[in-house]
Amino acid sequence: MKHYNAPMCGIFGYVGTRKDSTKMAVDGLKSLEYRGYDSWGVAWKDGDHLSSQKEIGKISTVDGSKLSDNSSLVIGHTRWATHGGVTVENAHPQFNEEKTIAVVHNGIFENYQELRDELKAKGHVFTSETDTEVAPHLIEEYMKETQDFAQAVRLACKRFSGRYAIVAVYSKADTMVAARTGSPLIVGVEKEGSDVIGYFVASDTPAFMAHTRTVQYLDDGEMLVTNGKSILFSSIETGEEVAKREIEIEWSEERANKGNFEHYMLKEIMDQKESVAWAVNQNDDEIETVAQAIRDAKGTFLVGCGTAGKACMAAEYFFSVVSDRHVNFAPGSEFKLYHHFLKTESLLIVISQSGETADVLEAMNIAKSKGAKVLSIVNVKGSSIDRASDYTLHINAGPERAVASTKALTGQLAVLLLIAYALAGKLQEGKKLLLETAAQINDMLNPRYIDRLKQLADIIKQKEDLYIIGKSWNYPMALESAIKIQEVSYIHAEGFAAGELKHGPIALIEEGTPCIVLVGKDEVMPDILSNAVQLKARGGFIIGVSPEKNEIFDEWIKVPEAGAAQAIVNIIPIQVLAYFLAVQRGKDPDMPRNLAKSVTVK
Ligand code: AGP
Ligand code: GLU
Repeated sequence: MKHYNAPMCGIFGYVGTRKDSTKMAVDGLKSLEYRGYDSWGVAWKDGDHLSSQKEIGKISTVDGSKLSDNSSLVIGHTRWATHGGVTVENAHPQFNEEKTIAVVHNGIFENYQELRDELKAKGHVFTSETDTEVAPHLIEEYMKETQDFAQAVRLACKRFSGRYAIVAVYSKADTMVAARTGSPLIVGVEKEGSDVIGYFVASDTPAFMAHTRTVQYLDDGEMLVTNGKSILFSSIETGEEVAKREIEIEWSEERANKGNFEHYMLKEIMDQKESVAWAVNQNDDEIETVAQAIRDAKGTFLVGCGTAGKACMAAEYFFSVVSDRHVNFAPGSEFKLYHHFLKTESLLIVISQSGETADVLEAMNIAKSKGAKVLSIVNVKGSSIDRASDYTLHINAGPERAVASTKALTGQLAVLLLIAYALAGKLQEGKKLLLETAAQINDMLNPRYIDRLKQLADIIKQKEDLYIIGKSWNYPMALESAIKIQEVSYIHAEGFAAGELKHGPIALIEEGTPCIVLVGKDEVMPDILSNAVQLKARGGFIIGVSPEKNEIFDEWIKVPEAGAAQAIVNIIPIQVLAYFLAVQRGKDPDMPRNLAKSVTVK
């Protein structure tokens, strides 16, 4: 099997009683922009034929109401090209030759070449270079066997390999058909009283939150067909009907919007004034249940990717320092060979903001295949990881849209630290510490503080290299600082365990090289300060993130003293700094190059 490292785009679909479906589609796609894309397209039912608009570039300034004011069936897409360049022809929706069938697609049909050859041999003419285009042609082919559009989509889906989500419409039917295997697709149900007046499908809930908060989750291997009044879920493989519940989403639309902020990243950093407390306000029994599962397990593994992985690494220190317990961390992509250690008594705890990360899902499958129990700590309720876990804790951070993860990280750290305290039989002590820390964060993120970090960004923004050091739980935060700065400002940033400097990296330090030193008032404070002195001796420009001032700091960023929660407060100023470094270098922090929010392929 080929492994693509592709990020994922946005899908929107609607059928119902409204006539402004193209406007809703364009607005819905705008709210999915955070997922990353390079072109967009919308197709709507116009009488008995399909009309469409496809363009390269941003959808931000498009007015969807100009496309049509009388359509009740629409599909839309923001594409992140994987197969074929960024061209209007390759943008979605993709059509069959008669333009009677339109398909939007997220993911990759791994066997598209074989299907394309087969369809070409049957006389189909292709107009794009995408893997996606095989879908409308294949559906058309199956329509010859069955007059039923949904059935034709089902037969086509049975032929696809790879991870994907699709939505398809047919010019001669007032129905929308969607299917998923590996890429997210969520249904929104709009009601008037108890009557359903429309159905949405989208890659993420903000796409339809302005219209409804009632959702239904389509699972992998399932499809749906809806005419806007009723909906039928079924298995792609067998065609058997699947019953679904309706779930109410509690997040308000306001929490998902940028509000007065220029970028989601800054908005979400500022959300931490409250979101750490939201994470801490967990049900005590649930935290105790997880702590007990760790006690009962013979070996606990923590798995996460990127920033979530850094939360796991910090938790290794939390568990060690707070509860004398050893846990093992592996990034999702490295977990495969751990199966040698896994038994039925093992416990896997996975951490993920989106709950859709493919490498994490794979780690879960490996653990499950060994009979091990899988717990998760996620932000997105109802996500694939949430649903595939034996037990889940939610961090309740509200939607995180910026690619750079900020409030999700501090929420994850807070929940992990709570678990460590519960494990030590001191849950209430942990809660108290974390709620005090939350209040200190609220205080810290004041306009003057933000401005101070903006000025610091101005001082170092021209530098091309930057190093961050930390010890103990501040070591994973040094790694996280590097990720944050790299992904939005494109400065070459690297994080190290402070003591490792003298084993190699110190050779990189030159006169004026910015070096961020993450400090806590703890047993390793003297060591890290002495490492900072070594950096200074090589000409390093020392930025100390510390509760206490020290003469070796060229710049001091004050953070509250937070004991075992120090990692949570130390990372926040770095998030702000990374944000301003991006903005002052003319980069869009919400849309970093080469990255997307959910990495749903391996
Ligand atoms: C964070 O800033 C990154 N963009 C990325 O490392 C992210 O944390 C990672 O892809 C994991 O995502 P998840 O939490 O949604 O699983
Ligand atoms: N593989 C498809 C393409 O390249 C879809 C990519 C996406 O998910 O946006 O067109």
